[in-house]
Amino acid sequence: MKTLAVLGSINLDHMLLVDRFPKPGETLAINNYHTVAGGKGANQAVAAARSGAKTRFIACVGDDAAGGEMLDAFMQDGIDTTSIDTIADCSTGMATIYVDAAGENHIGIWGGANAELSADKVESHESVIASADILLMQLETPLEGVEQAAKIARANNTKVVLNPAPARELPKELLANIDVITPNETETKLLTGIAVNNRCDADVAAKVLHTYGVPTVLITMGKHGLWLSRDGEGKHYPGFVVPAKDSTAAGDTFNGAFMAELLAGADCEDALRFAQAAAALSVTKMGAQSSIPQREQVLAFLELQTG
Ligand code: RIB
Repeated sequence: MKTLAVLGSINLDHMLLVDRFPKPGETLAINNYHTVAGGKGANQAVAAARSGAKTRFIACVGDDAAGGEMLDAFMQDGIDTTSIDTIADCSTGMATIYVDAAGENHIGIWGGANAELSADKVESHESVIASADILLMQLETPLEGVEQAAKIARANNTKVVLNPAPARELPKELLANIDVITPNETETKLLTGIAVNNRCDADVAAKVLHTYGVPTVLITMGKHGLWLSRDGEGKHYPGFVVPAKDSTAAGDTFNGAFMAELLAGADCEDALRFAQAAAALSVTKMGAQSSIPQREQVLAFLELQTG
């Protein structure tokens, strides 16, 4: 069975449900508060595993209760956790997430143990990357570790997929080692300078990313679907319309589910449809990992669309 290596963050998400986001200087009463397992790396690993992929996760947790509980939960999802390091005297990463009545979010993150995923730490897990078919990464852990992982993958013919979230500028050397990039509109603007308001903008932005050496560009546009560009040939894929409760981890669910389907042998268009369905289902529920569907749920949803 083909293997996915995910490298990235683990966070305990503090969810604050509000009617609207607070203004600067304003104190606002919260309607509901709870904690949920999150972190972009962890969400993508969970989405891939629940979609059926053999998933190995390279990450760091703190030696606290939250870290231990999340490790147990990953194992229950069938994720290989042997390359997750527990960092002594350190807290697990955390995020504060405001979710408004429309299901939109504002997120603040504190790295904690995620900040320990250095180039050296990544190097110590070289064999996990070298033996994987695909390496999936995001940008909530130190950039030097992401760069090192991409180099190891390139040297071992492991395909490199980067979800460049949260948005930040990236060195050209890293982009030249990426096979597939999956930015949203905000990340695309930061990487290319082009505001994506329509398919034409997406096409132009994708072509800029191709000039950086990335052969496959997948720009996600929320409820407006996505733009796939392969070596300059672009196509739009509309999304599914669902009642939105919380968009947290929708992009992560898309990335993890997409990788799982590709590894299972689906062609690109079928894998995209599966991943879009998984992401759509995730926005109908609150929270990050609490909202990520199992493969059977995604297939049942897709059946309803066609039936
Ligand atoms: O993409 C959603 C994730 O972003 C949340 O789970 C939060 O932890 C932040 O990392």
